[in-house]
Amino acid sequence: MAPTAAGDATPAITLDRITVRFTTERGTVTALDGVDLSVQPGGFVTLLGPSGCGKSTLLRVVADLIAPSSGSVRVLGGDASVARERRDIGFVFQDAALLPWRTAQQNVELPLEVGGGRAQPGKRSPRELLELVGLAGWENAYPHELSGGMRQRVSIARALVNDPKLLLMDEPFGALDEITRDRLNEELLRVWEETGTTILFVTHSIYEAAFLGQEVLLLAARPGRVRELVPVDLPAPRQIAMRETRAFVELVAHLRRVLETC
Ligand SMILES: Nc1ncnc2c1ncn2[C@@H]1O[C@H](COP(=O)(O)OP(=O)(O)OP(=O)(O)O)[C@@H](O)[C@H]1O
Ligand SMILES: [Mg+2]
Repeated sequence: MAPTAAGDATPAITLDRITVRFTTERGTVTALDGVDLSVQPGGFVTLLGPSGCGKSTLLRVVADLIAPSSGSVRVLGGDASVARERRDIGFVFQDAALLPWRTAQQNVELPLEVGGGRAQPGKRSPRELLELVGLAGWENAYPHELSGGMRQRVSIARALVNDPKLLLMDEPFGALDEITRDRLNEELLRVWEETGTTILFVTHSIYEAAFLGQEVLLLAARPGRVRELVPVDLPAPRQIAMRETRAFVELVAHLRRVLETC
């Protein structure tokens, strides 16, 4: 891991020799096999690898949705369960999963209601979060009145409503057209910079992994394991046009070569 301005700050995520096995009537699958990872606070790590290499499993372990078969997980300096209970973790899924009978703003408010809490001073309000993701003026629209990209923006605003220190994103833009995806990639980087949250982001797109990440974690399949952690040394602020630069093209070529061995 490259040293950061935070120096020796406690990592936001530490995975130490994580192994996850699933046993079904068809046998046992080793979804992750001895995976190590350290993510600095405020870091942005993208996970890239073939289908079935354990990307979603890794996110679920960090979110304390599944327990590893062996190895240790530390999230925000403590147990993953503590981070989850404190609502320090936001999760964005591939499908926006909004409640159709609630407006955009009511969907963003949902975690506050479920948690029995309410917007706290210093935290961005649901309205401000909708503005942050480019949806000012759409507060009262229902999900069926929004495009796929707009629904994903609502789900990002919803994941940010508890001001999470850690945002886990599992192929959030996978179902979108390329132009919308490019735009949301740029917006996500802006949101990341404005909120200072740590992000772990799963994607199948080499371009997306390279464009967003400060580091790209390449995983190989069967069993799921770390192939390489690639630092991304591209200048900020990143804009889509940067994908035409030589440094970016070379990075993508490297990621593609490694992926072929995964
Ligand atoms: N709950 C489960 N029960 C049994 N097997 C599972 C379970 N969840 C995942 N697996 C298996 O673990 C492996 C890793 O699955 P995972 O969903 O983490 O892969 P992935 O990298 O996210 O794939 P994709 O890119 O297709 O989303 C797969 O072989 C999958 O079949
Ligand atoms: Mg997955």
